[in-house]
This record gives sequence, C-alpha cells and structure tokens, in this order.
Amino acid sequence: MNGRKAINIDLNPMAVFMVKSLVAVVKQSDLAKAFEEVKLEYISKEPETQEDIERILKKCPGPKKIPLPKGARGIDTADKLFSPIQTAKLALLKAIIKKQKNDDIRNSLLLMFSGMVTKVNLTYHTSSYVKSEHGGGPAVFRYYGYRIAPFPTNVNFVKSLELRYKYVSAAKKEMEYFVNNRTIHNLQNIKGTAVDLSFISDESVDYIYTDPPYGKKILYLDLSVMWCAWLDLEVSEKDYEQEAIEGGSHRKSKNDYKNLIAQSIKEMYRVLKFDRWLSFVFAHKDPEFWHLIIDTAERCGFEYVGAVPQKNGQPSFKKWKNPHTVLSGQLIINFHKVKNPKTILKANLGMDISDIIMQTIEGIIAKNNGATLEQINDELIIKGLELGFLDLLKKRYSDLTPFLCESFDYDKETKIFSIRKNTKFQTHIDLNLRIKYYLISYLRRMEREKKTPGFDDIVLAIMPLLKNGITPEKQTILSVLEDIGQRVGKACWKIKQEGQLLMNLTT
Ligand SMILES: C[S@@+](CC[C@H](N)C(=O)[O-])C[C@H]1O[C@@H](n2cnc3c(N)ncnc32)[C@H](O)[C@@H]1O
Repeated sequence: MNGRKAINIDLNPMAVFMVKSLVAVVKQSDLAKAFEEVKLEYISKEPETQEDIERILKKCPGPKKIPLPKGARGIDTADKLFSPIQTAKLALLKAIIKKQKNDDIRNSLLLMFSGMVTKVNLTYHTSSYVKSEHGGGPAVFRYYGYRIAPFPTNVNFVKSLELRYKYVSAAKKEMEYFVNNRTIHNLQNIKGTAVDLSFISDESVDYIYTDPPYGKKILYLDLSVMWCAWLDLEVSEKDYEQEAIEGGSHRKSKNDYKNLIAQSIKEMYRVLKFDRWLSFVFAHKDPEFWHLIIDTAERCGFEYVGAVPQKNGQPSFKKWKNPHTVLSGQLIINFHKVKNPKTILKANLGMDISDIIMQTIEGIIAKNNGATLEQINDELIIKGLELGFLDLLKKRYSDLTPFLCESFDYDKETKIFSIRKNTKFQTHIDLNLRIKYYLISYLRRMEREKKTPGFDDIVLAIMPLLKNGITPEKQTILSVLEDIGQRVGKACWKIKQEGQLLMNLTT
C-alpha cells in the first residue's frame, strides 16, 4: 500500500470484518494496555456457577438465533452451537470489549474475540493429527459443516485469550510498515460482489489478485453463520443469490456458479488497464472449471501467461483423512491484458487424449519417482493450459481419482502414486511423439517468458519427464527439435511460428 491505492471486495461480511479489524491502525502499546484491561475485568467476572451464568445471560447479549443451513445435524439455529457456560463466557468478553471507546482498538479486540468463537463452541473437535495443545478445530474447518463434537472440549479460556491476542498483535506488527496512519486512507474495504464493479471506472486498475470460491468445496456464507451471529453481521437473501458457489443451503447449480465466475472475469477485464496483470487463484479436480476460466478470460481479451502451484502450510483435516481424493494447494494463473492477445493454440501432438493423459501422468511419476495427487493434477492442468487440451480433458474426466486408483499403486504412508509393482510404464506412445509433446510445451512456456533456451537447457528440462519407456538419445531430441523449433543465433532455440507448425490436436 506504499504509494498505492488498494480495494478489497468480498461478498461475505465476515471476510470484510476480518480485513477491517486487521488493518485498523493501532499503537501496539495502546492495544496491549486495552487487552490487559479487558483480560483483568473478564477474570474478575468469569462465570463459574449456574447463578453467574444466568446473571450474565440476562445482562450481556449472546449470539443471534440465525437459522443454520439444513443438514446441520439437528441443530437449527446458531445459538445452539454453544453451551450456556460457553455463551456466558463469550457474551461477557464481548460486552467488556464493546466498552472500549477507540474504534480501532475495539475492532482489533473483536478480531481476537472472533478467534475465541472459533475455539469455544460445541463443535470444537480435538485433534488426533496436530499433536499440540492448540490442535483441533471447529466442525466448520474440519468437515465444512456443522456438527457437535463427540467429546466436549474444555478450553482454558484465559490462556486461549492470551494466545489469540498474541496472534492479532503479531499480525499487526507484521503489517505496520505497509498499513499505517499515512497509508490507511488508500484502502477501500468493500462488502460487495465482484460481478458488479461499477464503482470502478474502465481501465483504471493496475493489478488484480483474485481468489474465488472453488465450486462447492467451501460454502462461505453458510459456514460463517456461527461468527456472524456473534459479530452482528447481516447476511441478506441477495448475498446468497450473488455468492459464487455450487450447492449450499440455497442449492445453487453448477451453472449459477459458472455464470458468476464468468461475469466477474468480464468485470475484471473492464476495470484493468492495458498491459497490466490479473492473478487468478484456483483449485479444482474437474477440468471443466479450468476450461471455463481460460475460455472466458480469452474471450474477454486476456492472454494466458503461465501458472504456478501454491502450497498450503498445514493440510486441512479433509486432506489428512482422504489424501488421495482431496486436493490441497492451488494454482495461480496469470493473465495479461494486451491489445493483441494470443490465444492458446491446440498443439498438433499426434496423440489422442487418453495417450496424452497417460503420458502426462507417467512423465511426472517417472520424473519424481512417484507423484502426489496434487503434482499429477497440477501437471495435467498446466499441460492442458499450455497445449490447449483442457476442453478434451473435461470431456473425459470430471475427477481423475478413480482412474488413478485403477491404474497406479497408492502408498498410504508417503501419499504417493507410483507404477504398479512388477509392471512397466504402460505407455506405448511413440518416442518421437513423447519428445514432441514435452518440447512444444517447454518451448511455448519459454516463448511466453521471452527466453530462448540453449540445447542443453532443453535436454535438461525434458529428459527427466521421458524416463518412462525408452530414454531418448540427445540426437533423437535434436531431430524432433529441428522439426518443431527454429534456431535463434547459433546456439539457441524457439518454437516455430503459427502456420509453420500445423496446429490441430487429434481427438
Ligand atoms: C477462496 S475464498 C478467498 C478468501 C480471501 N479473499 C482470501 O484470500 O483468503 C473465496 C471468497 O470469495 C467470496 N465470494 C463469493 N462470491 C463472491 C462474489 N460474488 N463477489 C465477491 N466475493 C465473493 C467468499 O465470500 C470468500 O470469502
């Protein structure tokens, strides 16, 4: 934010609340003092007896009785996610924080409070896989739904409060350099839909980073009811209508989701300046969604430039439980808005789509001596993006996992797919075609990155991917390269231009 204006837009009031309270500019010493006051008052009034609980519940407002989505395992409203003692403790804490006069301090402490809601509720499950005192999480994080934990967790409220305060204070310290009294006026934090950016004029934005929902994976509005109920955050029917997800309490269809994502890409194109970039974060096992994103972006006039995997720190509970079916991490796809955008051309690879899929999977397994679900998925999507076969991929698979389980061995310990024991790589594809496949993919990437690699660089990049089946001689690679590439100077190479290279993928 130094010298730049920034706009954050999200439909979910909880997301907007988090940004607002995170960026609220406070002096660390003032925040520390306010926290001590709040903590001491809380300790002096902490409810212990039934009488205490009743007294607090009469005086301090608890969570709103917002209806929960159907399927919340018999719990119909948000207040039922908390026992009377949990409600009393949280209500007391919130009432004390609310007494803070300074808006920024109060909001910062409310962020800490929202962390306490995460921890102090009936859905909090202790962890069997994060072996630390603070492992575990509410059902919403574990199962992406509401369910009461089989064993109630007795959290040390004050200790937990101190820890939450530490997190908030550390996050603010980290941001101080960028977000401070001199820069905060440059930020607009908006609750709204990315489908309508009419408050931003055409071609006025320098860079967009967007991280939309990934289909039906996380139902954000449904799942934030637990926090909205405490933080007095309103969600309207219109918000649900505009939310870009599939499924959920409002039973949104795949088409609803696809339309909203496509419309938001059009809006982003409109507001972005020429010669500027859009980074689009996405994760999905179904190639149909990737195809939709690329197709819509290209129709708008964006040029695809490249994609890089982004890893998550701690894997989710779902990933931990089902490592071979649940994806973790995302790809960041970068698009460039240029006057004469090049579209991704379907490369003439001379292989049918089944061969391409098999070669891609075997190639990545051969290169790494086994590959995770994420490595395989990322490789297929990136190759699909670069060689223009996503549309064929989407016709063949909506989920690759059954095919992987049928065709490869899976090691539960290492979470790695490998070639079945006592079998060879299945690929029967002609060696020259396999070389051509990787050469086209590699040279296209180099062209986008405006690089002209030497022959040794090329061999180094593609050889590890060709370890399945016969490994080629350098001379064989050179002869295919001469076919599809052209020399730049004496020692470097680039891909032949359109027209010179017949582009038409066989189906
Ligand atoms: C993958 S999360 C990203 C969250 C957050 N931006 C981040 O980077 O951590 C997707 C977000 O998209 C928001 N969202 C869903 N539909 C939207 C829409 N039509 N306009 C704007 N945001 C939307 C959800 O509320 C959710 O917060």
